[in-house]
Order: sequence, then structure tokens, then C-alpha cells
Amino acid sequence: MQVFNPQYYSVEPHRRAREIKVNGIKQSLRDEDGNVVYNLYDKRLVDNVWNIPSLAGSSGERMDFDTQKPEALLKRIILASSNEGDIVADFFCGSGTTQAVAEKLGRRWIGCDLSKFAIQVTRKRLLDIHYSRDLLNEDKKEYGKPARPFEVWNIGNYETVYWQEKQDEYLAFTLKLYQAQPLTGFRYLHGRKGDRAVHVGPLNAPVTMEEIEKVVIECRANNFNKADVLGWEWSYEVNELAKELAKKNGVDLRLIQIPSVNEIKSALVGFDLKLLRIPDQMVEKELSQYIKFPEVAYLEIETKTKGIEVTLKITDFQLPPTAELAEIANKVKDSRELIDYWAIDWDYKGDTFHNQWQSFRVKKNPKVDYEAKHKYTVASSEEPGKCEKQIMVKVVDVFGNDTNKIIKVKM
Ligand SMILES: C[S@@+](CC[C@H](N)C(=O)[O-])C[C@H]1O[C@@H](n2cnc3c(N)ncnc32)[C@H](O)[C@@H]1O
Repeated sequence: MQVFNPQYYSVEPHRRAREIKVNGIKQSLRDEDGNVVYNLYDKRLVDNVWNIPSLAGSSGERMDFDTQKPEALLKRIILASSNEGDIVADFFCGSGTTQAVAEKLGRRWIGCDLSKFAIQVTRKRLLDIHYSRDLLNEDKKEYGKPARPFEVWNIGNYETVYWQEKQDEYLAFTLKLYQAQPLTGFRYLHGRKGDRAVHVGPLNAPVTMEEIEKVVIECRANNFNKADVLGWEWSYEVNELAKELAKKNGVDLRLIQIPSVNEIKSALVGFDLKLLRIPDQMVEKELSQYIKFPEVAYLEIETKTKGIEVTLKITDFQLPPTAELAEIANKVKDSRELIDYWAIDWDYKGDTFHNQWQSFRVKKNPKVDYEAKHKYTVASSEEPGKCEKQIMVKVVDVFGNDTNKIIKVKM
């Protein structure tokens, strides 16, 4: 269904005499006392030329996003072409102007962007919408409501579906991207890079503890004492447990994040990714510069339980050494300052993450809270010490990468 709601814009109120024709001649209309009757005009129909001021630094809207558009512009578009409750979509959302305006005008919305930074800016803008300008009532200082619940989905890896049937080529391609040499005769060790064995994790499935255990066993049996496990996604327990397990077996293990398909795409412009081929000269010159394989971040959380109250505290957060981190490293006193945002689902059921608590940096206060508390409601029928909850913590660092962790608590 097409919607078009004509829009008006305000002008300085002015009065104009109402006119009538008498014997074909225009005259001012007068009432029975002889006074001229006026019409008051204070709005005009919007035509083809829109005069909307560009975003001023003092507007309070600024998100430090280069191509950000003014909310007034999106307000006009959304009011003109949708009704309350409709879904507004912007697949190039940038700083999330469309989503923020749609939210404040009572529309549902969908946003999408290939940039992690854009998604992160949009998410924070929506979480902070309470304090932004109200768009319907100019007398109100701020919107004053939180955003309705929304979810952030990452569909990046679906792009690798076309590699699914080409397992050998996928392995060769990933090893080449990582600049490792292929190895044959092993089950889980796919390559080597210097003195490190390399295992490439599966497409569209997280690397699990069982998989890492098999890599570690094969390393031990073949005298490799260093190994890199490359993955697109990670099972939640993998981070610390995997390193511990490897250490016990005398293997120095690194968990390495395979860069997103978008990053690979932008480094391989002009090549058809589906073909899984990279010319050799490209590997040396271009890829090593643009494609980074960072180590997975380390997140330590202290859990305290008192009755039905649980307190979580982030005690450590470490990012792997990368060039982008080196640029800001001297400004960071506590590594936890690298957290841009963290959120908790206090009752994670293993499917959708429900954002029940969050803390994030805003311009005025560029630091997150490190501690979060939650009081559960427990059915009286539950025996003390028998009630177990699964908590999921999601941390997003200042470079836009997610680190998730699952914690089990007994009350
Ligand atoms: C001009 S900006 C949008 C600015 C936005 N209207 C605002 O007010 O902040 C365009 C956005 O499109 C994103 N983009 C470009 N190509 C894309 C693609 N193929 N898929 C998804 N997003 C894309 C860019 O990352 C950028 O954030």
C-alpha cells in the first residue's frame, strides 16, 4: 500500500484579509460590524524544494559520523510516507538517523549496514534515545522514553554459503589469506606458519572445545608445541577453557579470528570471491597490509551470588595487539577502557540474546560500569541451591568486535 501524507512547514504567522468577489471585483470580506475578516496563516504545504538546515555542531544530534543526516530530514520523509506502526527500513543506516527518527515517530524499523562501526553507533544512539530531542512536541526538552526492545543480528557468515561445497578450496584459500603453507597427512592440522601448526575452523559453525581438543591431541602426537586455531565463530566456553586445556598439554594455543567477508571483499576488490582464488603477487603486496587476523579477546568476569542476587564484575578485558590498538594504547590506563558497550541477558535460554541490562560509553561519560547486579524471582517450590541460571554477557570493544561469554550460576 502506498502512503502519502502531505507535509506542512511552519512559517511566521501572518494575517491575510479574506476576499470575496462582488460584481466580479475582489473585496475584503467584512463582518456585520464592518470589520475586515482575516485568515491566519502559519504553515505552508511542502513543495519540491526542501529547505532543511544541515546538521549543526550545536544541534545535540551529532554522532561523530561523517555522513550523518539531520533528523528533521528523515522526519519529513518518514511522516510523508508511512503511518504509525508501519515498518521503515534503511539498509545503509550509517549512524542510525532513520532508525532513531522512526522510533521517535512510533514506527517499527529495520536497519542494516556493512560497517561494524555504523552498527555500533546506531545501537548506542538507540539505547541513548531517551535523552535525544523529541520530534513531535517542540516544547518537550527530550524524548524521555527508552527505545522499544530490538535485536542486533550478524549475518556476515551467510555470505560464505557458496564455499560450503568446496571444502578443499576453502581451506587452501584461508591458509593463503593467513599466509600459511598447507600441510598434508594430518586430520586437524591443515597448515603451518613458521613453527606454528594451523587449524582452520568450519564455515557457518562455531569452533567447539571438542574440535580444539582434537587439534591439541594431534599437535602433541606430532611434536608441535604451538598452534593457531582460526575461526569465524566460537563456542562460548572456548576462550579460556581452550587455552587452559592446550597449556596443560604443552601447546601454546592462539585463537585467531578470520576477518569478516566484507573485510576480505574490500581487500580483494576486482576478484570473484566465489572462485576462492587469489593471485600470489596479491598475497604479498596487498593482503598482508589490509587483511588482519586478530587474536580473540580475553574477558574475565567475577561472579558473586548472595541468595537470589547475582553480581557480575568485569575484572579483565584484553584485546590482541593490533595496529589499531597500538595507535590508542598510550591513552588507555585500564584495559577495560577498551569496552565500548556491554550487555547482559540474565536468563539466557541458548537462542536469542535478550538485552536486559546494558552499560555503554557516551560522549559525556566515556566509561562503562564494570559491575552489574540482578535479583531473580525464584519460585517458592525451588529448592535452595538447585536453581541454576545461565547468563550471557556480550561485550563490544571500541573497534566494534563482539566477545560473548556464558556464565552458569546456582542460587
Ligand atoms: C551515507 S552513509 C548513511 C548515513 C546515514 N543516512 C546517517 O544519517 O547517518 C552510507 C552507509 O552505507 C553503508 N554501506 C555502503 N555500502 C553498503 C552495502 N553494500 N551494504 C550495506 N551498507 C552499505 C556505509 O557503511 C555507510 O555507513
